Amino acid sequence: QEGWFTYDPGFVSTAACESKITFIDGANGVLLHRGYPIEQLAENADYLEVCYLLLHGELPSAKENERFRNTVNNHTMIHDQMGRFFNGFRRDAHPMAIMVGVVGALSAFYHDTMDLTDEREREIAAFRLIAKMPTIAAMCYKYSIGQPFMYPRNDLGYAENFLYMMFGVPCEEYKVNPIIAKAMDRIFILHADHEQNASTSTVRLAGSTGANPFAVIASGIAALWGPAHGGANEAVLNMLNEIGDESRVEECVERAKDKDDPFRLMGFGHRVYKNFDPRARVMRDTAHEVLKELGMENDPLLRIAQRLEQIALEDEYFIERKLYPNVDFYSGIILKAIGIPTSMFTVIFAMSRTIGWFAHWNEMVSGSYRIGRPRQLYTGYSKRDYPNK
Ligand code: SDX
Repeated sequence: QEGWFTYDPGFVSTAACESKITFIDGANGVLLHRGYPIEQLAENADYLEVCYLLLHGELPSAKENERFRNTVNNHTMIHDQMGRFFNGFRRDAHPMAIMVGVVGALSAFYHDTMDLTDEREREIAAFRLIAKMPTIAAMCYKYSIGQPFMYPRNDLGYAENFLYMMFGVPCEEYKVNPIIAKAMDRIFILHADHEQNASTSTVRLAGSTGANPFAVIASGIAALWGPAHGGANEAVLNMLNEIGDESRVEECVERAKDKDDPFRLMGFGHRVYKNFDPRARVMRDTAHEVLKELGMENDPLLRIAQRLEQIALEDEYFIERKLYPNVDFYSGIILKAIGIPTSMFTVIFAMSRTIGWFAHWNEMVSGSYRIGRPRQLYTGYSKRDYPNK
């Protein structure tokens, strides 16, 4: 009805916000973080440098870089009592369920002493989250396989330390393969931020109520879990396993086009990119590097993925709808090759995206903001009276 859809500043302040952090040109497959192309950051920077860039708007000087790393290292351990939360979960609990719970519980340890209006306090919250996410994520994995938690090692790089906490055991020395660590770090960079995607918009909306950053990041983790969003990397691996063999690829591509068939090409399509996701190209090259390093160039899943990409990119249905591989299409192949179980794939996405969520939250709460209050187009009954008995 005329005039029903009123202008609501609260809606605009979260649904169509302003930001200086990330720019996406979906038609041309462009992704910039504070003006730097993702391809150049993936090639030249490491994840902690990208964290600094997303937070502060500039790449760090050598001195700033060292200070940033040292401060992250001061926060890699979690409060000993937090370790007890894990015992409340079943061993086969999905690690994303544990992440939502444990990261949200960080609020119980830090938020009541935090003044959101104090820039320094917000920066400390950033350090705590950047530093603790790998520790908590690795604990999720160790808990699921019944192995002891590994304490973080601050003498290792960020990605190396994560792999050490994931695969190291107390009774043996664990040497991290530098090529695998570099690939892991690049996966962290490629997932760090992506403008107003579903989970970042969730974070902004939750943050607009004045909630503390730990609870707000937990809301982002929950939103990311869905298979249409961050859960897609796990869904890609499940899809490739369902296809099972290169000979079945054509049949499955046909199924993906059939509206009555629930089968979709996971890792294909995007709400914004109507061209190649620039991250997918870097991820594909990284997949080849990792599989070559591990002597797995003929990995059957890689072969199925390559065949799938080749057929879909030549298929009218996908061309017409501008459906291209997205960031999730190759990431799962790399993670599987490294030995990471599919249930941990979205956890790794959440670890990496924590800095993007935090940077957007921080950008919003650093300025003046109002509570988000999206409106709706009401399509239900108009006013009616309760029937006389
Ligand atoms: C991420 O937003 C972000 O930035 C997210 C993200 C980030 O970094 O935060 O980039 C991460 O979430 C990447 C996307 C991961 N999800 C998947 O890979 C799941 C598979 N993809 C689809 O579910 C889908 O492509 C979406 C959810 C990503 C986008 O859905 P849309 O917006 O509905 O897709 P669309 O409007 O572009 O679809 C146009 C047509 C439709 O068919 P028609 O109604 O026009 O006939 O294409 C079809 C869709 O049905 N379609 C697909 C398809 N994706 C869209 N058909 C088959 N397989 C697919 N994957």
